[in-house]
Amino acid sequence: MKVLLINGSPRNVGVTAKTLHAIEKELLDHGVDTEFVELGKIKMEHCIGCCSCYATGHCHIDDDAEELSEKIAKADGLVLGSPTYASNVSGVMKDFIDRGHFVIEQLLHGKYCITVATGENYGNRDTMKVLNDLVLYSGGRLSDSILVKAPFNDASGVEELINTKAKKAAGKLFYGIEKKSFHPIQTLFHYVIFNFGIRSFVQKKGKKYQGVTNKWKANGIF
Ligand SMILES: Cc1cc2nc3c(=O)[nH]c(=O)nc-3n(C[C@H](O)[C@H](O)[C@H](O)COP(=O)(O)O)c2cc1C
Repeated sequence: MKVLLINGSPRNVGVTAKTLHAIEKELLDHGVDTEFVELGKIKMEHCIGCCSCYATGHCHIDDDAEELSEKIAKADGLVLGSPTYASNVSGVMKDFIDRGHFVIEQLLHGKYCITVATGENYGNRDTMKVLNDLVLYSGGRLSDSILVKAPFNDASGVEELINTKAKKAAGKLFYGIEKKSFHPIQTLFHYVIFNFGIRSFVQKKGKKYQGVTNKWKANGIF
């Protein structure tokens, strides 16, 4: 069982990293094979909006973002964390969302996920919604979501809370993957989004989106 943890904070010692490491520790205790990725440290260009990936199935920019997207495709689970920047995800997380082939390619099909949003005053629920929507629209199943509110650079008052939430979330993720947990409401929501939104949109595009339909066929999505 392989789970990737992706820290969307440019700071690798902040509260987002702390929360993700607490989840990782619990997953390791369950015997899960984990990999921790710092988005702030990888080589990642911005998406330039050429849309060539829809035709070919891969981005023409051959950097770490493309490699990370391929790793996600092979993993069983994903933990996505971001601090709140101006009531949204961080810049590096947004870059990765744009580069990662998530929604159109249904990158998270059959994968179980945890989202983590941190902030110090207002807007972390907006951050969480961005991450949760990303998971659900991309075909993933949300095992748990963690919201952490703490003063900037000071998690001392919330460490116990982080550890408690991390233990609970990691357990849900582990058993979700092991037992292939069924989430009826999420499944229904995704069915509507995919069949009445994404699928018809892509099919109307024909050969321009051949790379997308090839991936769906390869992954048994459609
Ligand atoms: C550029 C910037 C914008 C921020 N905007 C918000 C915000 O809108 N709402 C909020 O609650 N916190 C905001 N914060 C605070 C961070 O979200 C918060 O301290 C977060 O936990 C930091 O995560 P980290 O320690 O993992 O880097 C902002 C911080 C920065 C650096």
